[in-house]
Amino acid sequence: MRVEPQSTSAYDVLVGSGVASRLSDYVGEGVRKIFVITQDNVPRVEVPLEVENTQRFVPDGESAKTLDVVGELLGEMSSFGLGRGDLVLAIGGGVVSDLAGFVASIYLRGVRYMTVSSTLLGQIDAAIGGKTGVNLPTGKNLVGSFWHPSSVFCDTSLLNSLSEREFKSGLGEMVKYEFLGASGLTLDALDESIAKCVAIKADFVKEDEREGGRRALLNYGHTFGHALESLGIAGAIDRITHGEAVAKGIRFAAHLAHRLGRITDRELDHHYQVLSEFSLDISIPEKVTIEDVMPYIARDKKNRGSITFVLAQSDGEPSVMRGISEGDLHCALKSLHQYL
Ligand SMILES: NC(=O)c1ccc[n+]([C@@H]2O[C@H](COP(=O)([O-])OP(=O)(O)OC[C@H]3O[C@@H](n4cnc5c(N)ncnc54)[C@H](O)[C@@H]3O)[C@@H](O)[C@H]2O)c1
Repeated sequence: MRVEPQSTSAYDVLVGSGVASRLSDYVGEGVRKIFVITQDNVPRVEVPLEVENTQRFVPDGESAKTLDVVGELLGEMSSFGLGRGDLVLAIGGGVVSDLAGFVASIYLRGVRYMTVSSTLLGQIDAAIGGKTGVNLPTGKNLVGSFWHPSSVFCDTSLLNSLSEREFKSGLGEMVKYEFLGASGLTLDALDESIAKCVAIKADFVKEDEREGGRRALLNYGHTFGHALESLGIAGAIDRITHGEAVAKGIRFAAHLAHRLGRITDRELDHHYQVLSEFSLDISIPEKVTIEDVMPYIARDKKNRGSITFVLAQSDGEPSVMRGISEGDLHCALKSLHQYL
């Protein structure tokens, strides 16, 4: 599969069991050194031996996505003598690809990077499309760049060691594609389903690389979802993963679209049907109020001074809707808790 951004060269995304064994074919001429960024939990992947390389293990979870870790990595890349024509290799999930892509984008004003994506969420989303970045104490992904990998390996054999919770997290992100044109996504044909998601993401990136328009639809379920994820990080509710948050956010977005007359009763039911097909936990703690989530919703990057959500609509794909009132959010949350 090819991703064709307008700003830079097109690149391959390989999907399937064992595709990481083809790494050597993609390293490219003239690469003398490879700086590998990975994590302890991630299965070992054979790095091309004919090229000098070093491996750096970064911390687990969001604590790896900090400017401190970025500074350390840049220093180590320089000490290793990584040059302009050399390569950064990310082996891991979305945390590793976001971090490695970002350091690759700023080291020597940009060097090539490739990603072996080892989580379901990474394979269907994070590893593709060139959005890289790290967090600030004030919020997630607030520092970053658009910097595309030179190739991506979605090696589905790596998913075997993923914990059930992390696998389900990936499904939470996968389910959004059902509302963005994918059909028949199923665990029974996982490789094909991953490939379908990659193809849809590639389409969005080709059309709108910098998220000025249609690419924002990939944030379906993310506005309310991010708010729940942030409440978890703040300790107000139990911590949830990104994909878990997206599934819950899709449920909320469906009720909001229904409240605003954008979808019918049947379409609301359809959302529940799709979410249940993937056996996702879509519970939202009763104690969470709109007042709790509002500070995060107000900071959402889609906002232009008014409450903004990606919402489904009966005729056609979801669209960005602005100017939503706080009263509508209250009604949507109430109807969600009353839905039987
Ligand atoms: N750049 C983008 O477009 C984009 C899109 C979506 C999400 N993201 C980012 O992705 C991150 C989440 O990514 P994620 O869900 O992959 O989480 P993650 O990278 O934290 O991985 C989850 C856990 O699984 C472990 N792991 C990874 N591969 C494994 C394997 N094969 N076997 C066993 N354990 C393994 C990791 O070490 C980690 O503990 C977030 O930071 C999010 O902001 C980025």
